[in-house]
Amino acid sequence: MAALDANETVLVGCIGGSGLYHLDNLTFVKKLEVTTPWGKPSSPITISSLPSGALIAFISRHGADHSISPSEVPARANIAALKHIGVQAIIAFSAVGSLREEIAPGHFVIPDQIIDRTKGIREDTFFRGEGLVAHAMFGEPFSVKLNEFVAPKVEKILKEAEGEVKLHTGKTVVCMEGPAFSTRAESLMYRQWGGDIINMSVIPEGKLAREAELDYTLICTSTDYDAWRTGEAPVTVEEVVKTLHTNAGNARAVAAGILQDVHDVVAEGKLLTDIKGSMQWSCVTKKEHQPKASRERLAYI
Ligand code: ADE
Repeated sequence: MAALDANETVLVGCIGGSGLYHLDNLTFVKKLEVTTPWGKPSSPITISSLPSGALIAFISRHGADHSISPSEVPARANIAALKHIGVQAIIAFSAVGSLREEIAPGHFVIPDQIIDRTKGIREDTFFRGEGLVAHAMFGEPFSVKLNEFVAPKVEKILKEAEGEVKLHTGKTVVCMEGPAFSTRAESLMYRQWGGDIINMSVIPEGKLAREAELDYTLICTSTDYDAWRTGEAPVTVEEVVKTLHTNAGNARAVAAGILQDVHDVVAEGKLLTDIKGSMQWSCVTKKEHQPKASRERLAYI
């Protein structure tokens, strides 16, 4: 297994979703085959360098060959592995369905809220079965600072993209279990609840990033109108895949355009001020009562 050399620092990690299995404009450095206390990540971690020499880590959420279903993504291993190699901020990408007329297929969305509709079958915390109780703050589920930092940059890049792609911010993503898409009734209900877009991936990834004290932002690409538009056929995989290819090209352009700036702002220590150290206030079990084995396992992150 290749490992990072002592002089190699990787501050920014990317998690690619459906259609996004690699990034552009980067020079391959090495692949890391990592095993964490929570198992292996979805894919080896690809380490690549930007023209400046800054290193970026990349994990393919559904595996390099898209063989891992949303319910089976080893999200704890993905987040733990990125944290363990030194990553401080994660830019995650996800294909989403749209619950709003104005968010057309092809548009990008950076959400700021989540409605969790997963069914409790995913391993969604580092703090279960450890004899150690912690409740992460999750009222603002994404990094407010990272969202604010990337949004104008993403908007500018998309304005210059072919066909001028629109970016929506301040939206709510519903995370459903899947793998089947929603019924019309569910899709209409999510709209009434205030959902704007829907995916199957942000939970538990975002929660685990918070528990690991990482800045986390989700850049979403809309592929379809889900099932709420009466008079129109509900979403199918064929429809999703049709938009996926164009969206992935735009997502790669966005990544190529923002990664250096994100790296720089993380290196300057300007982002993590809200999140770093937050778990010390979230842990209810006093240090002297925390099992040693759990403390050692959690020290990995
Ligand atoms: N990912 C892409 N489109 C989706 C949809 N309509 N529902 C859930 N996840 C999705």
